[in-house]
Amino acid sequence: MQGQKPENVFWQHDEISREERERLNGHKSAVLWFTGLSGAGKSTLARAVSRVLYTHGCQAVALDGDNVRHGLNVDLGFSREDREENIRRIAEVAKLFVDSGMIVLCAFISPFKSDRQSARKRFSQHEFIEIFCDAPLHVCENRDEKGLYKKARAGKISEFTGISSPYERPDDCELSLDTGALPVEECVTRIVDYLKRRSIIK
Ligand code: ADX
Repeated sequence: MQGQKPENVFWQHDEISREERERLNGHKSAVLWFTGLSGAGKSTLARAVSRVLYTHGCQAVALDGDNVRHGLNVDLGFSREDREENIRRIAEVAKLFVDSGMIVLCAFISPFKSDRQSARKRFSQHEFIEIFCDAPLHVCENRDEKGLYKKARAGKISEFTGISSPYERPDDCELSLDTGALPVEECVTRIVDYLKRRSIIK
């Protein structure tokens, strides 16, 4: 799929430019890409940040691994190839939202560096903000809110990230948060401060 060029298909430019949309919204568009183990707090943070952005009057949308796998990516599992395709599709959806002037919060394990790198490449340099939710495995496993670690340890789920499938830690992310120790509010403050520092929001 990746790198394929469609034949006899022509890109149509949007009537309203990104700049016009950003002016109307009063903020820049961006992708906040949350990565980390299952249970590290990606979705919790994405939800909490989108609430703060809403109270700031920003146009924000959250895309979540569990939700997207109920619809758009219902055909994908957790093999290396399927995870790659999962992230590729999400990056394309995020791109559509970003081009429409929105702030997109993507909460996906996205365990492979090369997939995160490919996602990053769909955006311009300052648009893609990778946020590493760095909670250690033992903390995520103790939380086990969905009971999946228990199942994975019992061999009832194969290719489970952190147990029987790798998680490649980022070394080039914009923000790294110790979500195993820091309270949610502190993480949210750090993210919102970052967005202000980078003049994405006011
Ligand atoms: S990703 O690796 O392709 O980025 P994604 O974020 O979409 O994963 O989905 C992860 C969610 O799917 C987890 O939070 C968990 O609830 C569920 N899940 C089910 N099976 C697995 C598995 N084998 N590995 C990881 N997560 C799984």
